[in-house]
Amino acid sequence: MNAETLRAKYIEFFVGKGHAQIRSAPLIPENDPTVLFTTAGMHPLVPYLLGEPHPLGKRLVNCQKCVRTGDIEEVGDQVHLTFFEMLGNWSLGDYFKKEAIEFSFEFLSSEKWLGMPLDKLAVTVFAGDADAPFDEEAYQIWKKLGISEDRIAKRPKKDNWWGPAGRTGPCGPDSEMFYWTGDLPAPALFDPDDRRWVEIWNDVFMQYGKKEDGSFERLARVNVDTGMGLERVLCILQGKTNCYDTELFIPAMDKIKELSGISSLLSPEHVKSSRIVADHIRAATFIMADGVVPGNIDQPYVLRRLIRRAIREAVKMGIKSSFCPTIASEFIRIYAGSYPEIASSKDRILAEFEKEEGAFTRTIEKGMREFDKFISKAKVDSNSSVIDGKDAFYLYETHGFPIELTEEIAREKGYSIDRPAFDKAYEQHQELSRKGAEKKFKGGLADNSETVTKLHTATHLLHSALQKILGEHATQRGANITEERIRFDFNHHEKLSKEQILEIENMVNSAISAGLDVLCEEMPTEEAKKSGALGLFGDRYGEKVKVYTIQNFSREICGGPHVANTACLGRFKITKEESSSQGVRRIKAILQYK
Ligand code: ALA
Repeated sequence: MNAETLRAKYIEFFVGKGHAQIRSAPLIPENDPTVLFTTAGMHPLVPYLLGEPHPLGKRLVNCQKCVRTGDIEEVGDQVHLTFFEMLGNWSLGDYFKKEAIEFSFEFLSSEKWLGMPLDKLAVTVFAGDADAPFDEEAYQIWKKLGISEDRIAKRPKKDNWWGPAGRTGPCGPDSEMFYWTGDLPAPALFDPDDRRWVEIWNDVFMQYGKKEDGSFERLARVNVDTGMGLERVLCILQGKTNCYDTELFIPAMDKIKELSGISSLLSPEHVKSSRIVADHIRAATFIMADGVVPGNIDQPYVLRRLIRRAIREAVKMGIKSSFCPTIASEFIRIYAGSYPEIASSKDRILAEFEKEEGAFTRTIEKGMREFDKFISKAKVDSNSSVIDGKDAFYLYETHGFPIELTEEIAREKGYSIDRPAFDKAYEQHQELSRKGAEKKFKGGLADNSETVTKLHTATHLLHSALQKILGEHATQRGANITEERIRFDFNHHEKLSKEQILEIENMVNSAISAGLDVLCEEMPTEEAKKSGALGLFGDRYGEKVKVYTIQNFSREICGGPHVANTACLGRFKITKEESSSQGVRRIKAILQYK
């Protein structure tokens, strides 16, 4: 079955069950400034899930374009994608668990539809906790349909609870369906942590609304929200181990290989690079089709980052510019039929790719000039053909040159890199950031005086104000607090204007005058992440973290300590704004008490 048939079958099945088909909403949320992209089919439906009547009725179905940027570093493996299509059906205060699960079961297992063998299916249900009870109802429904008890796993909130999509809103326990992709027969006992069981569909039972204070209220009217990953299901139906081997990606993957000039089988590194190139260019193509152009904040910044990452990976494979428009054309051809906006904006998309690729290539050229300086240095200093590893690290850190790229350029010029020295510089840098993060996590202010504690809370207010004013990309890169001042580094590509600085100061000062309470909670790291707390993610933190919430203004993972209420903070003032390194700005700020 190909993607087009899968989309059509899903829609046909649910239309047959009384659902009205709705169009995919754009990737850029129309009325929701809290998120950059549409991350699930339910997103554009939030007002209707909260009670607004939908013009097409209480049962809806669609195929929604989605972008998730949280896992960008994972892209290149078998399952993570930046852009994906989500097939979904909704009940807006109409049917609930019984019908929802029965529909899912029929669509997956019936010969007329996907015909998946029962033996390869397993499900999870919510185990229950202090916020909501075990989902016995879902458990019994699955059992009645013929899923054996060994194939129904009970899981905690971390795994079997969905939403809200932002900080507040509809959410609830869910029941996920898994398919066995291993070579051996599926084990009788289902272990959801075994990677060979792949999650394909999620039925969310929206019984709760999460409130600003973090508590859950039962909703008067319950809804069903489901989401099936189109690319994942497609792989399964085609017996492929990953979606890059399906017709959605094959033409682009072939082109990438052809442009790289590699005639043999790709090495694992090159396989990963080629997947990143394909994933990122596909996502960028869809984002541009919805009207975004590369830039320095918000969606434009994410778009720029995707294109630049694609270029870097392509360079590692030996692909020369300008390749972005060539790869994008393949995706435009594949998706033009299903998504008319892709077809109608083709020329604009290709032109933007070309422009952005040109600009980034010039950045690389700038780095190249530095590179030439390092070559002369190697020659003059030691008459050697080996370039200092520290210099290679500088190129990596300042100009974003991947080491593979530096090595390749060096090779072309008859030089090599002192790789052990590079690795050492790299490890030292990692170690320093890790130590910094640990120190931060452990509570880590070397100096816990009252003044420093106050500046520390003010730093959270600053971080949050930067996010609100400049955009979600403006995340912390580093912070240093002394008795006198805050020094705060964050991601941002442009100098801040006088107006922006004033706006940030005003926002922080309003939060101070409002006398907001500062609350500290301990929670599992996953939960903190899901709750939207700011923090340095990755595997830096332990299992549990402290999250500091400053009423509805800021929420951040941090070791503390902090003041109990912002009213004692004095007047916040930014004393300096400057560049720290490429793409990173630095603010120095103080609290005045007179
Ligand atoms: N909204 C649910 C999800 O994204 C279906 O998994």
